[in-house]
Amino acid sequence: MVKRGSVLSKFQNFDAYAKTLDDFRIKTYYGAALTIISTLIILVLLWSEFNEYRSTEIKPELVVDTSRKEKLTININITFPRVPCYLLSVDVMDIAGESQNDLTHDVYKTRIDSMGNKILIEKATEIGNKTKEPKNIVSETAPSTNETYCGSCYGGDPPESGCCNTCEEVQESYIRKGWSLNNPNDIEQCVKEGWSKKASEQAKEGCNVAGSVMVNKVAGNFHLAPGKSYQQNNFHVHDIQPFLSDGTNHDFTHIIHHLSFGPMVEGVANPLDGVSQAVSSGLHMYTYFVKVVSTQFHFLNETSIYTNQYSVTQFGRDLTGKDNHDGHSHNQGGLPGVFFNYEISPMLIINREESKSLTHFLTGVCAIVGGIFTVAGILDGFIYNAEKTFKKKVELGKHL
Ligand SMILES: *[C@@H]1O[C@H](CO)[C@@H](O)[C@H](O)[C@H]1NC(C)=O
Repeated sequence: MVKRGSVLSKFQNFDAYAKTLDDFRIKTYYGAALTIISTLIILVLLWSEFNEYRSTEIKPELVVDTSRKEKLTININITFPRVPCYLLSVDVMDIAGESQNDLTHDVYKTRIDSMGNKILIEKATEIGNKTKEPKNIVSETAPSTNETYCGSCYGGDPPESGCCNTCEEVQESYIRKGWSLNNPNDIEQCVKEGWSKKASEQAKEGCNVAGSVMVNKVAGNFHLAPGKSYQQNNFHVHDIQPFLSDGTNHDFTHIIHHLSFGPMVEGVANPLDGVSQAVSSGLHMYTYFVKVVSTQFHFLNETSIYTNQYSVTQFGRDLTGKDNHDGHSHNQGGLPGVFFNYEISPMLIINREESKSLTHFLTGVCAIVGGIFTVAGILDGFIYNAEKTFKKKVELGKHL
């Protein structure tokens, strides 16, 4: 009994919170007020601390991108109010020069009338150099199905079959020779297909190009340019004659509704969305230099999104060479149209969603409770002492 008591009393020496006797405690009205106020403050602060604990945050991390053999999806939606669809071709080329036939692509051209309303959808088949003229021009009068028919190429370089059975084939054979088909009315195949009539009907139209293109994840270029495009001696050539000389003033004024690389994620801004650019002359080349940065999102619910962000600079160039200071023509070549040169950044941004730690929350709680009570205690002591001094002075005054 005695022994236990002495052990206990030794242990009691560790008490950092020695109590004062209740008899010596004085309760004051301002002490009560301070207690209530500090309790309210504590509750408010605890509530906000708890809310912060429950929220998550996205932590970005920058590493070198070591992934390989990836594909890049380009999503595009762009409108040209003054270039009809049949004059517009969409081409993708990358620096690897890799065959583009394995592209999975889904790009649609929509004809827009002069009032800006949609007319009909056609699939853009120019991509990957599979040159097929937009369907709405050719399809109504199907190429001659007569097996024995072999159209003349009118001096052009004939295709492998040796015959030019459609207006388009005549055009291609001309381009292979380096000529341009200036007068389709002289070509039997074109007259049969009603080419000129269609062309003049659609001359005042515009075109919307929308869809997704899958490309190799290497630097490359996709462009929307006039005329039929094809590969000639390793050069990418467009026949722009119809664009320049069909009697209508076309130009590459454009509105980019949307341009993104990969899936959409909330919080990733696409700087070109909604950008429009007015161009006054048909001979104008507009180039966007796009740097694509791979971005990953890893969310707490174990889902991940692999997408890309980009930054862009833009540059417009007049191809007529009129704006030279020294009067010489410095026409360095170039093609009217809208070009997107994209480069892949070697850096990868990993955004991880993280929750707040419980220990951090508990530390915060202790800091709030302890801190507020300490400050209130100091205030209380201050008021108590001030009151005591004041009372003493009053009493001294009475005695005098
Ligand atoms: C392209 O953008 C226009 C304007 O925002 C929109 O009306 C149209 O539906 C879009 N096309 C596609 C295929 O998303």
